[in-house]
Amino acid sequence: MSRRRQIYEGKAKILYEGPEPGTLIQYFKDDATAFNAQKKGTISGKGVLNNRISEHVFTLLAQIGIPTHFIRRLNMREQLIRQVEIVPIEVVVRNVAAGSLSKRLGIEEGVQLPRTIIEYYYKDDALGDPLIADEHIACFGWASQDEMNDIADMAVRINDFLAGLFAGIGIRLVDFKLEFGRLWENDFSRVILADEISPDGCRLWDMATNEKLDKDRFRRDLGGEAEAYQEVARRLGLLPEG
Ligand code: C5P
Repeated sequence: MSRRRQIYEGKAKILYEGPEPGTLIQYFKDDATAFNAQKKGTISGKGVLNNRISEHVFTLLAQIGIPTHFIRRLNMREQLIRQVEIVPIEVVVRNVAAGSLSKRLGIEEGVQLPRTIIEYYYKDDALGDPLIADEHIACFGWASQDEMNDIADMAVRINDFLAGLFAGIGIRLVDFKLEFGRLWENDFSRVILADEISPDGCRLWDMATNEKLDKDRFRRDLGGEAEAYQEVARRLGLLPEG
């Protein structure tokens, strides 16, 4: 592995200093965690697939005018990104009831929601990323009202685009998580899409069979995680047909 200076190591990724000021290298690991890292494992080849899938999705999002941190993919496991100040909020977009929403509110998994829901979670491992309201964000100054307006607008546009993209390849976009970061230019900042979009942070169900093609296979001990991620990449046209 490289000898670049490591800036940060997360559960599934490592950030290294980039070649130019204002850039970082995002390295995708095969490590998988769930339930706030109480469950740990590896999914063989996941880093390579997520790097490729996230590159593809971020490139398409840039084409519809969503500003992102992605610059270019460098190799199988690394991409060059813009350095941002991560907004400490995980943005979850839901189209279908599943996961923590189903558990918290007793709504059966798989029920189509009458309208899309955007939820915010405070990004804090020690607290287990608690669900928060706009009032908490404003009260504790985690983001400004202007930033939250931009984030909500982008989340809706990203959802519309991705739901269509996945529907076109027979996949239901149940829910997904986004992270945003502040890009500073002189004394001004704007929020742009950061982190990754991959089966690690999305629920993707096969439309015909309802088979799960995402990290729930790992969380719920269903097996076949690597094959599921490969299937998503294959349907996106990122792997040879086979
Ligand atoms: O667990 P929950 O139902 O709240 O997750 C909603 C969506 O957000 C899922 O697609 C899950 O993969 C994603 N998520 C994530 N990282 C977290 C929490 C949720 O990627 N820390």
